Amino acid sequence: MSRKPTLAVVGATGAVGTVMLQILSQHADIWGEIRLVASPRSAGRKLAVRGAEVEVLALGEEVFDGVDIALFDVPDDVSAQWAPIATAKGVVVVDNSAAFRMDPDVPLVVPEVNPHAARVRPRGIVANPNCTTLSMIVAIGALHAEFGLRELIVSSYQAVSGAGRDGVDTLRRQLSLVAGGELGTSPGDVRRAVGDDTGPFPAPVALNVVPWAGSLKDDGWSSEEMKVRDESRKILGLPALRVAATCVRVPVITTHSLTVHARFEDEVTVDRAREILATAPGVVLFDDPAAGEFPTPADVVGTDPTWVGRVRRALDDPTALELFVCGDNLRKGAALNTVQIAELVAAEFTV
Ligand SMILES: NC(=O)c1ccc[n+]([C@@H]2O[C@H](COP(=O)([O-])OP(=O)(O)OC[C@H]3O[C@@H](n4cnc5c(N)ncnc54)[C@H](OP(=O)(O)O)[C@@H]3O)[C@@H](O)[C@H]2O)c1
Repeated sequence: MSRKPTLAVVGATGAVGTVMLQILSQHADIWGEIRLVASPRSAGRKLAVRGAEVEVLALGEEVFDGVDIALFDVPDDVSAQWAPIATAKGVVVVDNSAAFRMDPDVPLVVPEVNPHAARVRPRGIVANPNCTTLSMIVAIGALHAEFGLRELIVSSYQAVSGAGRDGVDTLRRQLSLVAGGELGTSPGDVRRAVGDDTGPFPAPVALNVVPWAGSLKDDGWSSEEMKVRDESRKILGLPALRVAATCVRVPVITTHSLTVHARFEDEVTVDRAREILATAPGVVLFDDPAAGEFPTPADVVGTDPTWVGRVRRALDDPTALELFVCGDNLRKGAALNTVQIAELVAAEFTV
């Protein structure tokens, strides 16, 4: 077959869907029709993609007629219900939700790390990793290829847009309620100012950090922390990799940051690590503390690469590196990686 494949974007109105449409408008246009889909609430809205206004369709079986590849940017339960309906019609689904990531018959793909995995799709579905894992894994994958990864200990500093539009609206509302005052000086003053409705977060996020993301799992771990562990193992093909993650929400709109302690098989050198990071596709090494140069979310937001700074060898372990990593959670952390996977699959339609 050699033709331009038809694409559907399901969840086109959401936080990830909005960035997806921007990326589809910026990348080389390999697509035939692009169909936009969301809930019945959004049916009839017009959204811009590739410079044209396209009407949003309500999700239903008929929207998949004639579609080759569908990108799903919808809640887990919507993906779980509708992805099999799309694949039954011969559509290849690239899914951004957590519904299929750990299914052994669904590859979990990061094109810079394991592109080959996208070709084997027993269920017709390719899963996109979660944004926290994706914000570090391109850099970690490059280091693993050279040094052989043994252990990851990470702390995340996660942006509110990781919790969707609701997360962004919550932080902006709280910022307007706390601005200009003397808050943050006595217990509970920020809580009283923002009120009881803390949106998708269990505590105020303005003027605060919240050591929680996701839902409660066994033994006090959060779902987000388990995803970092399970998904890193699956992407890197290291089922016994030791991983400990602590996920924290910070008052940043978009771009997740992580501190990473990565332990390898053998001794590492900072010089070789820097060479690898400076040349790895999709990674930018930005690391000159003497000049005040290290990545911050305010500078990284809106960009595609994984930015790495503060590269150091662990003081007490010559086999370990310490890194600070930033990645836009809506671009590489979600929409960009999904589009890259779709482009890999689309290449199968044109050869
Ligand atoms: N935000 C991130 O950083 C991030 C990163 C990686 C993965 N993800 C995952 O990507 C998915 C989308 O996240 P998001 O942050 O973009 O969420 P969001 O901003 O809340 O958007 C949700 C989207 O899903 C649509 N939707 C909701 N219920 C639907 C239904 N019953 N039928 C059809 N469409 C429905 C919404 O349409 P309406 O506008 O019509 O309601 C909207 O387009 C989630 O699975 C999320 O976990 C998010």
